[in-house]
Amino acid sequence: MSDLLEIAVVIPTFNERANVPTLVAKLDQALVGRQWEAIFVDDDSPDGTADAARELARLDRRVRVIQRIGRRGLSSACIEGMCATAAPVVAVIDGDLQHDETLLPAMLDLLQRDTELDVVVGSRFVAGGGTGDWDRDRVAKSAFATKLSRRVLKGDLSDPMSGFFAIRTDHVRRLAPDLSAIGFKILLDLMTTSSEPLRFAELPYTFRLRTEGESKLDHVVAMEYLIALYDRMFGHVVPVRFAMFSGIGVLGVGVHMGVLGAALSLGADFLLAQILGAMSAMTFNFFLNNTLTYRERRLKGFRKLFDGWVSFCIVCSVGLIANIGIAAFLHDFRDGSAAGSALAGILVGAVWNYALSSKFTWGRY
Ligand code: GDD
Ligand code: MN
Repeated sequence: MSDLLEIAVVIPTFNERANVPTLVAKLDQALVGRQWEAIFVDDDSPDGTADAARELARLDRRVRVIQRIGRRGLSSACIEGMCATAAPVVAVIDGDLQHDETLLPAMLDLLQRDTELDVVVGSRFVAGGGTGDWDRDRVAKSAFATKLSRRVLKGDLSDPMSGFFAIRTDHVRRLAPDLSAIGFKILLDLMTTSSEPLRFAELPYTFRLRTEGESKLDHVVAMEYLIALYDRMFGHVVPVRFAMFSGIGVLGVGVHMGVLGAALSLGADFLLAQILGAMSAMTFNFFLNNTLTYRERRLKGFRKLFDGWVSFCIVCSVGLIANIGIAAFLHDFRDGSAAGSALAGILVGAVWNYALSSKFTWGRY
């Protein structure tokens, strides 16, 4: 038997302390006779997951830990783990024991035997696989997400949302610079980034019930999934962040009109109503952008929020002047149509607001 490292098992974790020792024991059993290492990629879990993994790692050199500080994200954690090994094959498996680790040797065998193959995916949706005790709601949501993914996917993978697969490491290194790295869908990301379709095989497994800890798949993750799909389809035309910023801006116009109308109907004069409308819209946009568009750099605490809000209002006020200035110029001096001039003004204002607020309101300085 050769000593050469065969496979790395990357395990993204967030608050999985109780599952760490069990998982390592199960890997040890499943991969007996193989040269493997396990890499926990933990996002500084408050429950001390990384400590639990390090405790094992001191005894067992096959166990390694990457502890990321100030970062969150399943996909990006997987990418970092996958790029941190010398093994020619790398598998990704959840740290909560929901995936069936006994599939790992078969995944490795397939890749070692068939050099034409690039990826082996653990699938819940081929004959013999299943979603165990999932409730109806989750089955429906997962089916919907899978259906959407087919729009961006080249091959007909039965379970593109799977978080359980093995891939040749050189592919990962090649694709890493172009991955979107957003959200949970690392496999989909890899498969859609490759210009030549990756050749895959699927092995069935049954998704187990989680017994310790809780799922991190929440509304934010679901939104990130949609963002990632958008990014794949249209990101090269209009960047995701700018699209979100503009979408929120359109909602802000609605807020502006609503407040303006309400103030007028209460008897305010137009100037006052207009000022109230603009202030409400800017405040609304500031908080929504802070929660969604810039969620990973979200400003927190009264002081930071207040400063952010002030800088956002200043940026937007200047943006508004630019907007009106451009529109008036095009309309009065270039004989532009009213609608065309107004649109050009809005576009310039939006780009201005976006560029400057991303630097001065949500930038690091
Ligand atoms: N490092 C890191 N950072 N790990 C994370 C993060 C994060 O921000 N979020 C989640 N994880 C880890 C969890 O600790 C767990 O080990 C694994 O990623 C899966 O997270 P869960 O929160 O348990 O996800 P799930 O069970 O709801 O979703 C699973 O099934 C989906 C299919 O429906 C995952 O396997 C998904 O990848 C899969 O698409
Ligand atoms: Mn899980």
